[in-house]
Amino acid sequence: MSRKILVTSALPYANGSIHLGHLVEYIQTDIWVRFQKMQGSTVHYVCADDTHGTPIMLRAEKEGITPEALIAKVHKEHYADFTEFLVDFDNYYSTNSPENKELASGIYKSLKANGKIATKTIEQFYDPVKNMFLPDRFIKGECPKCHAKDQYGDSCEVCGATYNPTELINPFSAVSGAAPVRKETEHYFFKLSECSDFLRAWTRSGTLQQEAANKMNEWIGEAGENKLSDWDISRDAPYFGFEIPDAPGKYFYVWLDAPIGYMASFKNLCAKNGLDFDEYWKADSKTELYHFIGKDILYFHALFWPATLEYSGYRKPTQVFSHGFLTVNGEKMSKSRGTFITARSYLDHIKNPEYLRYYYAAKLNGSMEDIDLNLEDFVARVNSDLVGKYINIASRTAGFINKRFVGKLVSAKNHAVVEVIKAAAPEIAKAYEARDYSRALREIMRLADLANADVAEAAPWVVSKQEGDAPQAKLHADCSSALEMFRLLTLYLKPALPDLAANIEKFLNIAPLTWTSINDSFIDGHTINEYNHLITRIDPKHIEAMIEANKESLQQVAVPAVNSTPAASENVGDYISIDDFTKVDLRIAKIVNAEHVDGAEKLLCLSLDIGEEKPRQVFAGIKYAYDPATLVGRLTVMVANLAPRKMKFGMSEGMVLAASDENGGPFILSPDVGAQVGMKVK
Ligand code: MSP
Ligand code: ZN
Repeated sequence: MSRKILVTSALPYANGSIHLGHLVEYIQTDIWVRFQKMQGSTVHYVCADDTHGTPIMLRAEKEGITPEALIAKVHKEHYADFTEFLVDFDNYYSTNSPENKELASGIYKSLKANGKIATKTIEQFYDPVKNMFLPDRFIKGECPKCHAKDQYGDSCEVCGATYNPTELINPFSAVSGAAPVRKETEHYFFKLSECSDFLRAWTRSGTLQQEAANKMNEWIGEAGENKLSDWDISRDAPYFGFEIPDAPGKYFYVWLDAPIGYMASFKNLCAKNGLDFDEYWKADSKTELYHFIGKDILYFHALFWPATLEYSGYRKPTQVFSHGFLTVNGEKMSKSRGTFITARSYLDHIKNPEYLRYYYAAKLNGSMEDIDLNLEDFVARVNSDLVGKYINIASRTAGFINKRFVGKLVSAKNHAVVEVIKAAAPEIAKAYEARDYSRALREIMRLADLANADVAEAAPWVVSKQEGDAPQAKLHADCSSALEMFRLLTLYLKPALPDLAANIEKFLNIAPLTWTSINDSFIDGHTINEYNHLITRIDPKHIEAMIEANKESLQQVAVPAVNSTPAASENVGDYISIDDFTKVDLRIAKIVNAEHVDGAEKLLCLSLDIGEEKPRQVFAGIKYAYDPATLVGRLTVMVANLAPRKMKFGMSEGMVLAASDENGGPFILSPDVGAQVGMKVK
């Protein structure tokens, strides 16, 4: 009977861009899902943006938009990034959805009916200016251990100490700067302390990797130890999230409704595809459920989440798969080193997402170890494995089939190397199933070596020059078997390289490969299409350019328009359509304030009024050309819908237009008399 599998990746927060660290997870999951689909299983892969919580609420406020507008914008960006990396979700939804609201309320009510909810009055830091309770991360002050200034409320970035926000010296609110006061408030708790027995059994029942299970055992403790504390699941208004039923002004903490977002995304998919939600989620479900997560969120997925499901009457995950963290060149991703690389900037510079998919696959082994993206090794590996070994098999043989034999193949039945490659299928499948992609790829590359050795021995480039029928027949048979080997290797690599595989299926003129296609060997007379170049080597220059572009100090200068406006002497590029032009929201802006930025060589900080509630803050590289005092009060033109960017000195929320070339500038634009603040320029 075919398996029915529901797979999730963790829901990325809707307050930041997808970066190469995130992609470890989404690529890992996508490869597994594609493998399972090739096996003929019924698989649904769902995800969503994680949209609730204080950071998202505050960021929206800072950008002068509603949280709903912010999460809509980020959803679009995230979805585009994932799509371009070939991460093929069956549904990519949002936790701020009606389905999620209903499921979260329902689960809460069941927990309450089962006696698992309690209320307690607690004391918390409160910002008396902003009138809100402050999460630990929004309280700053002096580290109680090393006295470093400006440290977060939970840990010190200088000495690494962790502490309670109450221990900070001279604490202040990161939101308003005010000194926080302590204030009492009633919170709702999930009685996790009563779930120890259930969790001890569940975490030891094969649901977690050994390393993860050991960690959970430490947290849960042995019977009678009672190490787990109750879980605070409420937050006070103002909070962007779902209000708790019958508790006005109290909201579900983001981590309560986030994993329920997995269910909600699936429910939304069910409505679209006519699937049966209950079949996958009722307590006695026969289907499989797998969560792919990073090791940092194990606590939520291995304790809170199964307990929540258990005591609200739903099924628990079949397994939770945790992976380690990404390092780049052996170190944590870093903005100053240019290794905090966004998905978008990779696409802009390297372009081909399958290089990264291949490299991550070559490194992932199903454990919780961190994985390193060594950029030199990345280039070497992709160039030698993919281009040098794998594609090489086709590029050395296809031309002869196309030119000498009008594209027709002869069957490669009983060819020794073909049989060896076929026989490896079960081992490769086992490695994929166990998420040990590195083992799968090692085996596939070993087979590619065998194939290349076979081609080298057959030497079609020599045989093709020999006259007579026998050499012709040998050339035909050798090149045909080489393409049969290439077909099998393509099948094995397809979970990691789906686009390349699709192009090769077109070239080989075959139906989409699935695992059973292993036995659909070419028959005599099967005609292939013209061989076209399939993949190019990575040029290390692009890597360097990407690193440079991600260095924070450069970004500060790259943001303002004045430095990237093409000079008059440069060629005017291709035409764009009017639709392209209208995507740019140009507005008349009044410079209400302009000032120097401490430590910035080229930048002025402008406050631009375009008729919104608050002026926009924009950093512009015009310091050499303008005295800030002369700018205040002037009208100019700004791009109002440029994605805000965080720079070393603060957020830049747009861009002013200015002209320049090698002879001078920048000169900022002024509208004609009569133009009013906020008018659209079109
Ligand atoms: N919103 C939560 C997850 C809620 S799931 C119900 C969250 N979001 S996140 O955007 O911070 O991370 C999303 C996933 O990406 C997590 O599984 C996280 O572990 C993973 N990664 C984020 N940075 C990473 C690296 N640098 N390396 C590897 N994985 C990383 O957590
Ligand atoms: Zn410290």
